[in-house]
Amino acid sequence: MRGRDLISITDIASEELEDILQTALGLKDRGRQTLLVGKTLALVFEKPSLRTRVSFHVAMRHLGGDCIYLSPPEVGLGERETPADVARVLSRYVDCVAARTFKTETLSELAAHASVPVINALSDREHPCQALADMLTVREKKGRLRGVTIAFIGDGNNVANSLSLAAAVSGMHFRIASPEEYGLPQDVRVRAEELAKASGGSVRVMHDPGEAVADADVVYTDVWTSMGQEHEASQRKEYFAGYMVDARLMAEARPDAIFMHDLPAHRGEEVADEVIDGPQSVVFDQAENRLHAQKALLALVLGDENAA
Ligand code: CP
Repeated sequence: MRGRDLISITDIASEELEDILQTALGLKDRGRQTLLVGKTLALVFEKPSLRTRVSFHVAMRHLGGDCIYLSPPEVGLGERETPADVARVLSRYVDCVAARTFKTETLSELAAHASVPVINALSDREHPCQALADMLTVREKKGRLRGVTIAFIGDGNNVANSLSLAAAVSGMHFRIASPEEYGLPQDVRVRAEELAKASGGSVRVMHDPGEAVADADVVYTDVWTSMGQEHEASQRKEYFAGYMVDARLMAEARPDAIFMHDLPAHRGEEVADEVIDGPQSVVFDQAENRLHAQKALLALVLGDENAA
């Protein structure tokens, strides 16, 4: 994976995903390593972040490298300077760029003009780094990915897009329950179905949360209103009424099912306190795994061959 961009989770083949997960588990076990001494990562963010920003920063520090954070007003992507010029300039200073953008086109423009790898740290379209941490968490908690049933309840958003594609490539059974107007984009659904067909997994799209979670191994949800959609919040609350993951819904899943959420959570909307704070919740292990999964990704993209 050395030198490669990560824009979509589908940029990673199934054997490469496996390599990232094994590397992440190894790095999690071994702690700090000196794999990226002298390397610098630039974080270019158009939106706020807690987990992504801190986990990338700490990941570089743990691997012996350095990290620079550029906040939205500092960079002014597309306003102060074109994404193409930002990419050309940063490529002269740093070894990798992780960007969080409103539009996926901005990310694509950065990647097209950078001579260093560009990593999607969340766009309107996908959140592949979250999906890597999610797969790592399921692997740890369930001992495998293949054959695991994961039910996503809520908005067919960037997190759901990457999760569906990662699950499909891993031979998992992915179900999503959303209101009719807020399901997975058609092209993502078609691609996920193709990947699932090849891996022995499956993808099912439905509207009834109870049907989605029935006997599921993993129940996953995310906010109903993503960053940049705040003007739709009240309308979305109406559409998503009935899609909260509460104890009654969790009881429809397998007794040993885990609850996942990429965070931040809007408690009392997509998830009840009793679930996110309950014994089946693994959300903070999942958040920790952002660090381990990204350490593995950075080591494989930026490190010497076989160093990880
Ligand atoms: N899950 C996630 O990406 O969190 P942040 O928005 O805080 O980075």
